[in-house]
Amino acid sequence: MLTPWEHRFAQRTQRMTSSAIRELLKLTERPDIISFGGGMPAPEVFPIEEFAAACQKVLRDQGPQSLQYGPTDGYLPLRELIARHTGRYGIEVTPENILITSGSQQALDLLGKILINPGDRILVESPTYLGALQAWSAYGAEYVTVRMDKNGMITEEMEAALRSGPKFIYVLPNFQNPTGVTLAQERRMQLIELADQYGVPIVEDDPYGQLRYEGEHLTSVVVMDGQFRDNCSVCYRGNVIYLSTFSKILAPGLRLAWVIAPPEVIRKMVQAKQGADLHTSSFNQLVAYEVARGGFLDRHIKVIRSVYRERRDTMLAAMDGFFPPEVDWTHPEGGLFLWGTLPESMRSADVLKAAIEQKVAFVPGESFYPTGGGHNTMRLNFSNATPEKIMEGISRLGRVLYEKMGEPAGVRK
Ligand SMILES: Cc1ncc(COP(=O)(O)O)c(C=O)c1O
Repeated sequence: MLTPWEHRFAQRTQRMTSSAIRELLKLTERPDIISFGGGMPAPEVFPIEEFAAACQKVLRDQGPQSLQYGPTDGYLPLRELIARHTGRYGIEVTPENILITSGSQQALDLLGKILINPGDRILVESPTYLGALQAWSAYGAEYVTVRMDKNGMITEEMEAALRSGPKFIYVLPNFQNPTGVTLAQERRMQLIELADQYGVPIVEDDPYGQLRYEGEHLTSVVVMDGQFRDNCSVCYRGNVIYLSTFSKILAPGLRLAWVIAPPEVIRKMVQAKQGADLHTSSFNQLVAYEVARGGFLDRHIKVIRSVYRERRDTMLAAMDGFFPPEVDWTHPEGGLFLWGTLPESMRSADVLKAAIEQKVAFVPGESFYPTGGGHNTMRLNFSNATPEKIMEGISRLGRVLYEKMGEPAGVRK
């Protein structure tokens, strides 16, 4: 029986479901559970003192401005700082190319609002970021998928999906959420060429690109696209909409992120954002600017890299020691996640139930597959728990896996 309220909800809400991740995050609030579930930064790296000093300074020097309504496209000095910061990663843009959003999640939603008509297809990697699927399904999106291997989306298999006429391509080239895999440089070029050939734009979602723990930085798709088009002007006018965020390099509670796109896309997103929240919090933007300026952001990113590198290495070593040899996992060069694959006969959702009894959690991979599959996969976050908790949690998970496989724990073949 539907309640009267359920009769009133708009049709688009029928495809809105609770995210498995959000449900799982509830568990992480229980202090006895070691959770590799969410995508949360390490609380130990939050620059709390710097924020306290910045809040005081902003209130003292710019009190009324920080508490007043502000422009929809964002606080200009922050947009200029982003232009300088991304310039060092090769992304040459002007503030005209930049929109500040309330998290990248809002940017994904605004893109849905301005680009997706009901029934439009989006070309996505399989698996892909669940939050994007949630945002776009509400606008009636359908998905065409391209498989991934250890070098990211298999661009050699993209043409079939492109022939179905997708509205845009959604790609996470660096340390992808959920798999931790990075799109190889030559595949980035192939992606740009195919997108150009079929006249399909690319949405590049890059929350983790600056969190690399080994290997060389790979050129962003937006930069390669600018070079491909011989875009000599500083104002970017190419085929890529690029998203990044302060969530993983400062603090996710700020809800501060940015979009880089051709000016006409930014202008349309600004109109869409006005209807959503008028603008992102003035106070948060001014405080973030105060914290980030003067080189602090770069120094802080180095600290985060060294903390997360240790946690990644701890998790990889613990999995080597405690996981059954039948389990495979990725070796991410950066980011927050790694991806495990169990034997075909196993369901990671069943493993999770048993794991929770042993007070350890992860996210079953199934929900990251927009068109089904991945029943035997799992996403593990390594940024949030301390190395000691990672060792303990992985050893518990190893015991659960051996039990599920009917083998005595610790018997490595
Ligand atoms: C790929 C991807 N895109 C977007 C987001 C949303 O980030 P934000 O906190 O900026 O909304 C996340 C968060 O984990 C993510 O992994």
